[in-house]
Amino acid sequence: MLRETPLMQRLGLKHPIIQAPMAGGGDTPELVAAVCEAGGLGCIGAAYSTPDQIHALAQEVRKRTSAPFGINLFATLELPELPADPGPSLAGVAPFYAELDLPPPSLPPMKSGQFAEQLAAVLESGAAAFSFTFGTLPAATIDAIKRRGMFVMGTATTVDEALDLQRAGVDAVIAQGSEAGGHRGTFRGEFEAGLIGTMALVPQTADAISLPVVASGGIMDGRGVAAALALGAQAVQMGDECHNRNRAASALLIKALAPEIAGLDLAAAERSRILAFAASNEHLFLNVGMAACKAAMDPAHGVPHSTLVTAMARNGTEFGIRVSGLGEQWFTGPAGTPQGLYFPGFGPGDANPDIGDSAITETAGLGGFAMGGAPAVVQFVGGTPADALAYTRLMYEITLAESTAYRLPTLDFRGTPTGIDVRLVVQTGILPQIDTGMAHREAGIGQVGAGLVKPPRVCFDRALEALVRARAGAGAGSGPR
Ligand SMILES: Cc1cc2nc3c(=O)[nH]c(=O)nc-3n(C[C@H](O)[C@H](O)[C@H](O)COP(=O)(O)O)c2cc1C
Repeated sequence: MLRETPLMQRLGLKHPIIQAPMAGGGDTPELVAAVCEAGGLGCIGAAYSTPDQIHALAQEVRKRTSAPFGINLFATLELPELPADPGPSLAGVAPFYAELDLPPPSLPPMKSGQFAEQLAAVLESGAAAFSFTFGTLPAATIDAIKRRGMFVMGTATTVDEALDLQRAGVDAVIAQGSEAGGHRGTFRGEFEAGLIGTMALVPQTADAISLPVVASGGIMDGRGVAAALALGAQAVQMGDECHNRNRAASALLIKALAPEIAGLDLAAAERSRILAFAASNEHLFLNVGMAACKAAMDPAHGVPHSTLVTAMARNGTEFGIRVSGLGEQWFTGPAGTPQGLYFPGFGPGDANPDIGDSAITETAGLGGFAMGGAPAVVQFVGGTPADALAYTRLMYEITLAESTAYRLPTLDFRGTPTGIDVRLVVQTGILPQIDTGMAHREAGIGQVGAGLVKPPRVCFDRALEALVRARAGAGAGSGPR
């Protein structure tokens, strides 16, 4: 069963599902109420509605359900100037309306500068949540909405936008990936900069802000994450550890994507360019794999007193870990420099200290923890296949479980060591083994080699001290789990 998230608790939801508000008639009070009744959060897309219409829509929803619902508006205070003659634009989209048996298109009734009146209607509507898109709102406005007891969410398509929204005081950020249909909320920088896929945007945003993140765009069901896990599981058995060696996983991913790409309505040269790009990058799977690892670890975060490490990341200066029972705090120490093999033309003087988010793979039981099943990776990072097996065996000493998905043929299909326990690291003095790429110390040059590195022990010492303090503060409760 899924863990109940703080957002679900706050809004009294049974399921972590928010129905996309769709201004312009895409949602109806019946749909909104049905989602609420099913245990999700139904939302009215009210951006094109007048204050009177907002009252009426809210009443229609309330008639059908007593569960909490949301209302959404556009944050842009002024609408762009309408063309003097909208006729040609309406004629342009008319054939699509006709094809779908819809009445001919017309301009929405909304007047420019109506936001304040719309918001006043929203505040009186009885909605439990308010979300907005296409910008941010003044902190005072957000504060006033929150004081009415409403939960406020803003839409971001980049990490910078998410940070803006956090500064303005929202309760949660909707991370809208490039797959999202309908209104795309980019409000800072070029539109193209906001075209980040949901699987990439959500973990980046979750790491950058300290608020709940709502994933939006292309999410049809749980199979997206499940598929990434499944591809990773097969790849581990084919000799990948899915951090520094992704050859099998990338090939499996291309195999899964190729029929869809071949069927795209694009020129043959374009389709071949896409496949050639995918085939030229042996780490193609790493992006998907990292997102799957993050998605696997996040539900384990926030268990009171839990000593499980739920994230490890490095920024080229510091190495940080996050622990399930210790909230949003990072425990950091100086980042080491990987030891390994260099690409031709580069040497130790070129390497930057350890950098990047990819240690989420080790956090989830892959990468250095799965090296025993990836003997060929030693040609890339140094050492022998026996060393690779020894690294994996050692990691069982500091982990709480063995993966049921990633099984190693070289160890009689034993699951990879998974779930680093802060207590075991401190007790044994064994540090997590990370198997990683090395970046050049000057930005823009890129990867110069690959090797092995460990986090500094101080991260784990500090985390354990904090766990002890938290337990002492909580009084005689249950001990660390
Ligand atoms: C027809 C349509 C209208 C939309 N209108 C709004 C809107 O008024 N406000 C808003 O915040 N998002 C709007 N969106 C975007 C959704 O909130 C959401 O980001 C998107 O539908 C998620 O991607 P998906 O379509 O792949 O599920 C709209 C989406 C669609 C498809």
